Amino acid sequence: MKNKKKVLKNKKILLGVAGGVAAYKSVDLVRRLKDEGASVTVIMTDASKNFITPLSLEIASENRVCSGIFDDPMSHINLPREADIMLIAPATANIIGKFANGIADDLLSTCFLSFKGKVVIAPSMNWRMYDNPIFQENLRRLTAHGVIQAGPDRGTLACGEEGIGRMADVSEIIETIKSAFSKKDFFKKKIIVTAGPTREYLDPVRFLSNRSSGKMGYAVARACIRRGAEVILISGPSCLEQPHGLKSFFRVETAQEMKNAMFKHLHETDVVIMAAAPADFSPEKKEKTKINKTDKLLVNLRNTPDILSEIGKLKRRPLLVGFAAETGKRLDRAKEKLIQKNADIIVFNNVTAAGSGFDVDTNEITIIRKNKEVSLPLTTKDAAAEAILDAVSELLKRVKCII
Ligand SMILES: Cc1cc2nc3c(=O)[nH]c(=O)nc-3n(C[C@H](O)[C@H](O)[C@H](O)COP(=O)(O)O)c2cc1C
Repeated sequence: MKNKKKVLKNKKILLGVAGGVAAYKSVDLVRRLKDEGASVTVIMTDASKNFITPLSLEIASENRVCSGIFDDPMSHINLPREADIMLIAPATANIIGKFANGIADDLLSTCFLSFKGKVVIAPSMNWRMYDNPIFQENLRRLTAHGVIQAGPDRGTLACGEEGIGRMADVSEIIETIKSAFSKKDFFKKKIIVTAGPTREYLDPVRFLSNRSSGKMGYAVARACIRRGAEVILISGPSCLEQPHGLKSFFRVETAQEMKNAMFKHLHETDVVIMAAAPADFSPEKKEKTKINKTDKLLVNLRNTPDILSEIGKLKRRPLLVGFAAETGKRLDRAKEKLIQKNADIIVFNNVTAAGSGFDVDTNEITIIRKNKEVSLPLTTKDAAAEAILDAVSELLKRVKCII
């Protein structure tokens, strides 16, 4: 897609693949990193070649795969010098032990010692190995030296046992990489993000809702976490994966429940970003049992709570960001909303434009403030979220608006 801005664009990632059962996942990892705009050079340990072939990683990375320390006499210096970040996934107990003790007896461990940038490791092993106090000591030593750890997760392990040791899933590893590159201008800021639709029930099985998927709100929540914020995500029904690193997550169904969750936490919040699409109307009456089929059904509707405007009316309130989803180029309506709801920022998006709005990974937005308006070309929702946070960050520097 033209103009598609990717968060890892032009980043050079040196990926170490060590000899664990999760090594097969590194093919998917390489593909996904490349999808995010990164270029990837893979170093394989000898042991890893028992689990996956260099050819698979060469094809996925579209790059040569390096392995022997003496294949190219300067690669242990040149590869780290050219990389922006080092990622080891899977990281075995062995390679972590070597890193923690300054052992440099193969290409990967030697590159680690000569690398000057940030290093992310994704440990992966049986829970018995993970629990071992010597291994834990090694891990602590590495993280104390600034190595960033992603995972491991709990779950069913390759041997069939349950426990901790599964490699973090690929999306979590990629989020950790993005976070490592991210500025931390929201460090310790408390942010509430809302996402997704709401459901307003007619009876126990039928409801009024809308097409919102939650993708924009979840992208905003992830961007806030990457930039150091403590994030509460209040989400309507959505099948999206919960972002890693949230402070709290509340699943709600109705606009009233969304409002209740919001006001419970508002007092401790610096910024509210309302990317949710709460239904505007709710049936006046919710039947206790399923309404029988009839030829004609008349339903009286009432307005749901207008959460944005209720926060806007507060004497002391957090910095307030709302969204205006319009069908058509109705920037005028978004500007009216900014004034009427007393918000600090309104993000306008035309949900009927190609590639924009509901259930897609891209959006075309205009960020509207009282005296400033920035229109972005069609971009990923991740990049749109970053641009929204840039505007919030600029305002936060100027206004003191903590409740
Ligand atoms: C079938 C099999 C699976 C293994 N899986 C893992 C694993 O998931 N994690 C780990 O730390 N070691 C695992 N090991 C042990 C490592 O392969 C071994 O420690 C090796 O020396 C690691 O070398 P490397 O760190 O240089 O890649 C496994 C060994 C075998 C035989």
